[in-house]
Amino acid sequence: MNNERIALITGSSSGIGLETSSYLARRGYTVWATVRNLEKTSELHKAIESEKLSIEIAQLDVCDNSSVKNAVTQILQKSGRIDVLVNNAGYGLRGAIEEVSLDEWQKQFETNFFGAIRVTQAVLPQMRQQRSGVIVNISSVLGRMAIPFSGPYTASKFALEGLTETLRYELAPWNIKAILIEPGFIATKFQENVQLAQDAQSDDSPYTPFKQVSSRRIQRNIYRAAPPERVAETIYRALAHPHPKLRYPVGRDARSFIPLRRFLPSRVFEYLLKRQLGL
Ligand SMILES: NC(=O)c1ccc[n+]([C@@H]2O[C@H](COP(=O)([O-])OP(=O)(O)OC[C@H]3O[C@@H](n4cnc5c(N)ncnc54)[C@H](OP(=O)(O)O)[C@@H]3O)[C@@H](O)[C@H]2O)c1
Repeated sequence: MNNERIALITGSSSGIGLETSSYLARRGYTVWATVRNLEKTSELHKAIESEKLSIEIAQLDVCDNSSVKNAVTQILQKSGRIDVLVNNAGYGLRGAIEEVSLDEWQKQFETNFFGAIRVTQAVLPQMRQQRSGVIVNISSVLGRMAIPFSGPYTASKFALEGLTETLRYELAPWNIKAILIEPGFIATKFQENVQLAQDAQSDDSPYTPFKQVSSRRIQRNIYRAAPPERVAETIYRALAHPHPKLRYPVGRDARSFIPLRRFLPSRVFEYLLKRQLGL
């Protein structure tokens, strides 16, 4: 029997997707590292060539139906199965809720939430036929608690959490698992790729003084960011478990904030967070 395990990872051009592609390939997976722009594959090629890794590259934009369909068809034609889907593609959008246009809200959800649904729907017929598979959704500590001025991102990750809980029930009859990875700060290009809402760019914004203080306080903690390898390692461990848990926080910040949010009375948690953020 062929024991080859096939993994499809979205957003593999950098950061967590890139690291997870190499990490799983080093441990025996055949990885389909997918990118929305085939010109951004130099890091992937470097990893493949220097370590002779079993990584295939395919184009996949999570916001584009035909791109998703073509990538999944290509993978099934060549590899014949999909054992693991890592819904990793995503970006952050900053701005007060009042300042983010509906168009910007929709784009944020289109990538971080509907993108994950689009790829999940495309792989599920195959996983049901196999009667096995794992869907790994990359959420965030902000899928469990909110901070100000990241409302659309936080809401998209909260939505991903609900989606994943539902998937676990619906897919159990086919032995398909769904799990959440909840990283805190991770040292990737994520922060440099964060988009600022159009209307949040003016200094005349009524929110400017609050945003400046809280963003300075948040930036102060970025130096504590964990390496993306920590996320890849967590994914690998979860995949190796016969009965993976629903949630896997990654990093010291995620492992302390999530239990505090969960167990402290909300008024106490809010008070502490406001103090931390200088609000
Ligand atoms: N870094 C953190 O602190 C942190 C913390 C918690 C959660 N996360 C989550 O981790 C995931 C990966 O982020 P990262 O930290 O690795 O950041 P990153 O280095 O900015 O990587 C984001 C990846 O997503 C891809 N992407 C964006 N839109 C896409 C689309 N429409 N279709 C396909 N790919 C798309 C990007 O591709 P391009 O190169 O083409 O832009 C890039 O490969 C995200 O879901 C993020 O929310 C990150």
